[in-house]
Amino acid sequence: MKYIIKRLLGFVGKYKVPALLTIVCMIGEVVFEVLIPRYMALLIDNGISLGDTAYVYKMGAVMILLTIGAMALGMLGVIFGARASTGFAMNLQNGVFSAVEDFSFKNTDKFTTPSLITRMTNDITNIQQAFQMTIRMAMRSPAQLVLATFMAIRISGRLSLILLAAIPVLALALYLIGSQAHPRFIAMLHRYDDLNGAAQENLIAIRVVKAFVRGGYETDKFTDRANAVRTAQVRAEKLLIMTGPLMSFTMYGCILAVVGIGSSHIATGQMLSGELISFISYISSILMSLMMLSMYSITLIMSSASAKRLVEVLDEVPDIDENRSSTLKVADGSVDFEHVTFSYTGSTENPTLTDMDLHIKSGQVVGIIGGSGSGKTSLVQLIPRLYDATRGTVKVGGRNVKDYSTDELRGAIGMVLQKNVLFSGTIRENLKWGNPEATEEQIEAACKAACAHEFIMSFPQGYDTDLGQGGVNVSGGQKQRLCIARALLKNPKILIMDDSTSAVDTATDAAIREAFKSVCPDTTKIVIAQRLNSIMDADLIVVLEDGRINDTGTHEELLARNKIYQEVYESQMRKEVA
Ligand SMILES: Nc1ncnc2c1ncn2[C@@H]1O[C@H](COP(=O)(O)OP(=O)(O)O)[C@@H](O)[C@H]1O
Ligand SMILES: [Mg+2]
Repeated sequence: MKYIIKRLLGFVGKYKVPALLTIVCMIGEVVFEVLIPRYMALLIDNGISLGDTAYVYKMGAVMILLTIGAMALGMLGVIFGARASTGFAMNLQNGVFSAVEDFSFKNTDKFTTPSLITRMTNDITNIQQAFQMTIRMAMRSPAQLVLATFMAIRISGRLSLILLAAIPVLALALYLIGSQAHPRFIAMLHRYDDLNGAAQENLIAIRVVKAFVRGGYETDKFTDRANAVRTAQVRAEKLLIMTGPLMSFTMYGCILAVVGIGSSHIATGQMLSGELISFISYISSILMSLMMLSMYSITLIMSSASAKRLVEVLDEVPDIDENRSSTLKVADGSVDFEHVTFSYTGSTENPTLTDMDLHIKSGQVVGIIGGSGSGKTSLVQLIPRLYDATRGTVKVGGRNVKDYSTDELRGAIGMVLQKNVLFSGTIRENLKWGNPEATEEQIEAACKAACAHEFIMSFPQGYDTDLGQGGVNVSGGQKQRLCIARALLKNPKILIMDDSTSAVDTATDAAIREAFKSVCPDTTKIVIAQRLNSIMDADLIVVLEDGRINDTGTHEELLARNKIYQEVYESQMRKEVA
């Protein structure tokens, strides 16, 4: 826990100054507040009781000044506190976000996206609250406790004994409540992950949900999860709610006892009435400070679960070492798989890819076919190191992919993922992801090669058309073509297309392939496709089956000898005739 706190406090950064000012203000406020009842006692016992009006006015003035001072410091404390805690939260948010940016696919798989979102939102808010509480209360309340106790003992040591009886009882009760609440809060945060998961899945797939008229089902699912959050929250808060009545009970019990005993002391002349009144004020402020401390510890308990979850993210070691210091350049577009075995879990039992040996020369066009789940996507993801091979070596340009910095390696590879992603913004902005320096002519040429120029020009705003979030404003096939153009703009040594023309018609598909020959003749092209048409004229065709290379060869060779290839060919050709 000590480490977790230290790790998080590192993000306070330049907000240390307002944080310290907050603490100073809050302590100042307490000092002023503690003095007020003292002057009140003097005012009553020396002023009113003796009929000294001048003294009453003097003490009254002092009290007013003290009150104004306390109020001003309290307000300043709130302002500094807000500035420090929001700044701290911002730093923390940036820190977590940049940690997540460095995650490999495997790291992200481990945390899951919804959980990362909860961590970046709810958990950070919890920590922010705890931090604000800390700088406002962590010093103020103990100071109030000590000072008020000191003043109370000064007035009457014997009456103060009442407190000695109350405090241990209270402390024990608070401890029990706190320790029970902790696991319940962790459970609650997990329910939040689930809820965010449902929300995210639905928003991403809203069109599918609507198309299948699953809205009702999904709403029920969401309601269930929201209910689970509610139940978990009630379970956790139920315990905490008990602290309020407990505190009030103790507080009024103590005051009752003090008034009872104190009034008999006044009757016997051991105590002045002003002293009793100020004593009661001190008792209340002692109990107030205890109440604050208990609320503070509850906040700490609630946020410690969040703190742990954030530090987990911050300290997650990116699974892929980016090798930033490497200056090695990718020499050419050759790709070699040497006895590569890969599994998403890292264990070599039931691997996704088994003992793959594949050699692609620079500039070759390679087609990959295989049933769904046969490992095509997994295979190509190893080339730009979206994942690392579990065993064996993947080489690009004759060198192990791990020898390059990931920036250099990925810069040399254009990848059109199976799940295409475009970002909100205009078409031009999206294309420039491929190459921020691309000129107007280059952009147009890439779009022409990807058969995208024509439909872009048919939009009233052309290249300035806004795509909407995730590129919702274009059709699937148009999106694919934009993604191809974006990859082309990188002018990559290796171009990987994972089922990237599945949504465009056969003629366009052929036109794109034809254009590649003139636009990027030297680029190695690795094409995953369902349609044999898309890969028939490749230099090399790889047939995958259950994570193994079943056969490699040209169309003619495979057609002559490979059973799987023949079957695919038969079924597709028959369809085309029919
Ligand atoms: N991120 C992942 N984590 C765990 N398993 C995965 C992941 N992605 C794919 N798989 C599994 O790996 C196998 C191969 O998947 P994939 O390479 O996507 O096949 P293809 O692209 O040929 O359809 C499948 O059994 C799939 O369930
Ligand atoms: Mg795939």
